[in-house]
Amino acid sequence: MRNLLITAAALLPLAIVGARALAADTPAPAAPPPGPGLELINQRCVFCHNTAQIFSERKPAAAWSATVEQMANRGAEVSPEEMKVIVDYLAKNYGAPTESAAAASAPQQH
Ligand code: HEC
Repeated sequence: MRNLLITAAALLPLAIVGARALAADTPAPAAPPPGPGLELINQRCVFCHNTAQIFSERKPAAAWSATVEQMANRGAEVSPEEMKVIVDYLAKNYGAPTESAAAASAPQQH
C-alpha cells in the first residue's frame, strides 16, 4: 500500500506535464488585435450578440460605418466619437476593399 502511494505520488507530476502538453496542442482562437476600438467593442457591442458575430465579418470602412450606425439605431449605446473609433478599428483589422476598388484592380475584359 505504501509503495502504491509512493508510485502514485511519483507519477502525478508526469500526469500534470502530460495534460499541459495536450492543452498546448489545442490551437488558440485567433485573438482580435488590441486597440482602443477593441475595448469599446467589448463594452458596447456585446449586449445583443457576442463579438464572434462582429469579427467574422469583412467589409470596407463605409460598410462598417453603416453597420455601426444600424447597431446604434437598434440600441447600441455609442457616442459619435466612439462610433468613429470602432469603425476605424473594424476597417483596419476586419476590412475589405470597396467594390469599386476591387473592380478597378480587376483585369480589363476586351
Ligand atoms: C441593441 C442590440 C445590439 C447591439 C448593442 C449591437 N448589435 Fe450588432 N446586431 C444586432 C442584431 C439584432 C443583429 C442581427 C440582425 C442582422 O444581422 O441584421 C446584429 C448583427 C450584427 C452584425 C452582423 C450583421 C452585419 O450587418 O454585418 C455585426 C457585424 C454587428 N451586429 C456589429 C455590431 C457592433 C460593431 C456593435 C457595437 C457598436 C453592435 N453590433 C451592437 C443587435 C445589436
